[in-house]
Amino acid sequence: MAIQFLGKTLKNPMVLASGILGNSKDILERIHENGCGLVTMKSIGPEPRDGHKNPTVIDLGHGMINAVGLPSPGYLNMENEWRDLEKRDFPLIASVYGGSVKEYQMVAEFVSSKNPDFIEINISCPNSEKHGMIFGINPQSSHDVVSAVKKVINVPLIVKLTPQAPDIGDIARTCEDAGADAICAINTVGPGMVIDIEARTPVLAFKKGGLSGPMIKPVAVRCVFDIYKAVDIPIIGLGGITTGEDAIEIMMAGASLVGIGSAVRYRGIDIFQTVADEMEAWLSDHHCSHEDITGAAHKEG
Ligand code: DHB
Repeated sequence: MAIQFLGKTLKNPMVLASGILGNSKDILERIHENGCGLVTMKSIGPEPRDGHKNPTVIDLGHGMINAVGLPSPGYLNMENEWRDLEKRDFPLIASVYGGSVKEYQMVAEFVSSKNPDFIEINISCPNSEKHGMIFGINPQSSHDVVSAVKKVINVPLIVKLTPQAPDIGDIARTCEDAGADAICAINTVGPGMVIDIEARTPVLAFKKGGLSGPMIKPVAVRCVFDIYKAVDIPIIGLGGITTGEDAIEIMMAGASLVGIGSAVRYRGIDIFQTVADEMEAWLSDHHCSHEDITGAAHKEG
């Protein structure tokens, strides 16, 4: 079930979400071999950053809450990773974050010189006051960062959006106008908080964190639905996708590709092939193709 996406052929529509499995070629290659059509690196930032103190991730059963805190070696300290990744034979999205338009531009320009297949700008991280989300909730800031990055890179640009935006369709349209080639939605929901009632204290060291996993799927489906109505560029839909039927659902909302993040924890790294097979079985039972189902839920206007 090969699929075309922004000029590249992917073996299937499954995408590894950013931040789930780091940046080493070996692990990303293994994910591709295990049935994932397109893999995304953990977001790369302008400076070395340790991230937040532990605990940073808690499994709530029906999903997870995390505040990892954007740990990054910094874009200038990844020579070993790039040396390996430049020799890869699988399609790769490099994800980038910054604390200002200039920082996004500087990191993206450098990363572009390392030949990823696509660059994703993360304008939606909830776990830092100054990075990410602040750009994704305001149309003018989204426009500024997308147009600045678009000028300095030579691969297609994907913009990762937050469900926190008051009107995510409006932000997506602004990104499209500014030159985005695709939208990825959604980043984690929240921030939320979990309190240990015996200790009378928030459980995460950063106190607040982004929600992911099955509990956020309806938010993701609604956001992708709104974005599909607003733009003509393709959408990578993700947020709580765990099964083939979830994948079909988010495609019906408007996604061309389907991302998986937290569910790697629930179903293991074989999940990509498993979900691809489950989708394929559903499509064959219903006598239809991927193209038939992307946006199918919009039929009634
Ligand atoms: C982190 C969390 C995110 O949701 C994101 O988009 C980027 C980074 C983090 O906490 O590391």
